[in-house]
Amino acid sequence: MQRVLFNLAPDTDLGERLATNLGALVGDIESRHFPDGELYQRVLTPVEGQDVVIFADLFHPDGQLFELLSLGHTLEELGATRRTLVTPYLPYMRQDKRFHSGESVTSRHFAHHLSQAFDQLITVDPHLHRYTSLDEIYQLEGIVVSAKSAITAHLKQLNEKLLLIGPDEESEQWVAAIAKETNVPFQILAKQRSGDYEVEVSRPQLAPFADHRPVLVDDIISSGRTMLETLAHLKESGLSRPLIIGVHGIFAGDAYQLLMQEAEVLTCNSIPHPSNAVDLLDTLTTAYLGALAS
Ligand code: R5P
Repeated sequence: MQRVLFNLAPDTDLGERLATNLGALVGDIESRHFPDGELYQRVLTPVEGQDVVIFADLFHPDGQLFELLSLGHTLEELGATRRTLVTPYLPYMRQDKRFHSGESVTSRHFAHHLSQAFDQLITVDPHLHRYTSLDEIYQLEGIVVSAKSAITAHLKQLNEKLLLIGPDEESEQWVAAIAKETNVPFQILAKQRSGDYEVEVSRPQLAPFADHRPVLVDDIISSGRTMLETLAHLKESGLSRPLIIGVHGIFAGDAYQLLMQEAEVLTCNSIPHPSNAVDLLDTLTTAYLGALAS
């Protein structure tokens, strides 16, 4: 059976390389807008009876959503047997509760729409905080993979004495696992967030680690305030220049510039960015082939 991959993320080479790894033909779509702004979309590659992969980077989801949903529905109408959406970064996971009356719990609504248009979803380290699994909000087969092993492989190449620091309790799932695999000490800090840009992070115990390089690991870097507050505690420590590793580097506003002043900043290539240094290709390939085999 011929496999087809539609690459909706031309700004990164990850989709093309995934197609090569999966032995998939890269499919063609004609897509433009009518003078009134409405979408015209035509699938040019035959998909009847075929497994179809749709590779997308959804870090700016609002402008992309209708095109993506329309493609999913069209592929079903054209007879694709299975539509697998591969989006290394899954947005709309953080509004997982109605914090104030009248608020939309957008995570649920986003999940509902994607579930109508696709059969399977593969994503890397989605922000599962109040939800324990994608199944709580998605009605498709959700496959979650982690960037932990890719980050571990990267850190193992560094020839330095490291101290891993997780800036909040949620980061422990990455930090503890990576620390175990790399045999590096770690600390998890406590975070209090009172607003988008208002964050307090507890102070790490650095005295026993004077000859270590601090490595801060978190799933998402958005406003950068979590990392910046953590870095502020390291400033007078005399430790060597910290390294920050984020699975998903969103870098809203001036976050990247501010962080670069204080640390070396690296991210996984789930979101295309100059800081990309940890490749998720093998992680995604294994996830798709594993799902096929099961
Ligand atoms: C939240 O709990 C996440 O794990 C990250 O710590 C958070 O999203 C980082 O956001 P920001 O960069 O805006 O502080």
